[in-house]
Amino acid sequence: MNDTPRSVKQVGFTVNGQAVALEVAARRTLAEALREDLGLTGTKVGCNRAECGSCTVLVDGRAVFACTMQVVEMGGRQVTTVEGLACHGELHPLQEAFIEHDAVQCGICIPGILMALKALLDRTLDPTEDEVKHAVAGNLCRCGTYPNTVKATLAAARALRDDAEATIARGSR
Ligand code: FES
Ligand code: FES
Repeated sequence: MNDTPRSVKQVGFTVNGQAVALEVAARRTLAEALREDLGLTGTKVGCNRAECGSCTVLVDGRAVFACTMQVVEMGGRQVTTVEGLACHGELHPLQEAFIEHDAVQCGICIPGILMALKALLDRTLDPTEDEVKHAVAGNLCRCGTYPNTVKATLAAARALRDDAEATIARGSR
């Protein structure tokens, strides 16, 4: 007999490539589950009502506000947080470029901005300046890093394009 209270649900999904299983209250948000149940505090919560973008994560590759999603909706999905950006101990080119172009001030908005831009660069490695601005239109930065955010993103796109071209050139030898 299942003695799980009706208000508690079970959900299984993937976070940064790792399978997770949680028992959660039905209305628990994805942001709460990531930060409080899974200890992934890189995802920030600012407004908690879909206005600031600081909680942005990827769900099946799409940038979403984790404060607006219930974690029980995540069954079988792939969630990527800012902790999943670095790979084998190396920062993602976006992270490198943000440091290089001084696009980080207090950092509260930065995880969400990085994830919104990761979704963009996963779609295109040749974004226009307007596409970069549009990708982060829902992400507020009180420190005003916007101009450097755009420069950093275009630089990261160039670095990723160069990597892709080098890989193709190696494969054709
Ligand atoms: S905390 Fe989710 S949009 Fe502000
Ligand atoms: S770097 Fe401070 S809010 Fe964006």
